[in-house]
Amino acid sequence: MEGNMTKIWQDKRDRYVASAVGNGNRHIAAKAEGALITDIEGNVFIDFAGAIGVQNVGHCHPKVVQAVKEALDHFIHPGFNVIMYPGYIELCQRLCALAPGSFAKKAILLNSGAEAVENAVKIARAYTGRQAVVTFERAFHGRTNLTMGMTSKVKPYKFGFGPFAPETYKAPYPYAYRKPDGMSDQSYDEAIIAQFNEFFLNHVSPEQVACIVMEPVQGEGGFIVPSKRFVSYVRDFCTEHGIVFVSDEIQAGFARTGKMFAIENFDVIPDLMTVSKSIAAGFPLSGVVGKAEIIDACTLKGSLGGTYCGNPIACAAALAVLDIIKEEHLAARAEKIGAVIEARAEEWAKVYPFVGDIRRLGAMAAVEFVKNRETKEPDKDRAGQLVAYCNQHGLLLLDAGLKGNCIRFLSPLTITEEQLNRGLAIIEEALEQVK
Ligand SMILES: Cc1ncc(COP(=O)(O)O)c(C=O)c1O
Repeated sequence: MEGNMTKIWQDKRDRYVASAVGNGNRHIAAKAEGALITDIEGNVFIDFAGAIGVQNVGHCHPKVVQAVKEALDHFIHPGFNVIMYPGYIELCQRLCALAPGSFAKKAILLNSGAEAVENAVKIARAYTGRQAVVTFERAFHGRTNLTMGMTSKVKPYKFGFGPFAPETYKAPYPYAYRKPDGMSDQSYDEAIIAQFNEFFLNHVSPEQVACIVMEPVQGEGGFIVPSKRFVSYVRDFCTEHGIVFVSDEIQAGFARTGKMFAIENFDVIPDLMTVSKSIAAGFPLSGVVGKAEIIDACTLKGSLGGTYCGNPIACAAALAVLDIIKEEHLAARAEKIGAVIEARAEEWAKVYPFVGDIRRLGAMAAVEFVKNRETKEPDKDRAGQLVAYCNQHGLLLLDAGLKGNCIRFLSPLTITEEQLNRGLAIIEEALEQVK
């Protein structure tokens, strides 16, 4: 599968590209379409990674490509801070219309997920006049200094990169699979809520907190789905204490969970949302959208923004993405994809005792591997071997979880049944190999 040309590029990569940049797969891509990526040797990979949740509408969707080509005929980047253009304004309008909540909304566009999170924090601090930022255990919010501080997993994301920004705190977040033996779901919710309240006695006082930033489904943390009760408790807690509630939709948003935004599964309305990844089908674009009153607390012109923010080509792609999600009913499709994955994974659990947990919200699905179902000891090695096998045998697959013992499914939502089944069959081959 790896010919001479691949080897030449790999050697160059090792020679010239920073070692710390991860590559899940060492093949060299030549072309991508829908849920398939072909490498320079002609090997075809089914894509269950979607550039880490970026390709909900699939690679190079014809409507995205067309919108981008048309946008290029106008200009590449006049710079929104210098002279405005319709795409930026229209995308903000569409995001405001889509974001949950009947209040007046506004949006700002940025480049990356981390940058959106940073901006949400700036806005919340300006609005509240407070400094503290609360995130959750196992959270991932990015690799900039502030977002490293808001992120949980030390290795590889933070190790050796401190000191981190002050006034960031991590609250407990439920993990239903790992609740104490014999405890009911309801008692577990109450126990976590008690820990959450305790946290505000032990670590930071609510009246000092500018925002609580929550992933409505934890992404890098292992696709962990919290209970509705917990999410609505956090929302109410924010309301009670004047804290801005931010839903980080960067990985979970844009139909992945069966709703346009993951927080909609919890019947909760956030004050702000951070969006990125699948918003623009691979163009660097992110944003913060939410209550106009909060966003406009930053009053100084120039205090928000950046050179490349809201690039018009990326905006054109994003506007096409929003159309595609609606026209192709991708939210409903996500639920179907998730159901297929879940049914297959249930079969795996019958055969392989190391399949510990299967969980999902829509197509945001994960399988957690354990050494022993009784002790639930995480099995990172087996997950790693399985991911490596898949990547060598035609399937792009990612791991996840604080302990790296989960596999996660982030295929395009436009994947065909046949491609989905073929990808799952490769995982089945891998399960046989690692059993
Ligand atoms: C929930 C969440 N927030 C923030 C980020 C950071 O995004 P970026 O890598 O674009 O900075 C990610 C990236 O995986 C994410 O999953």
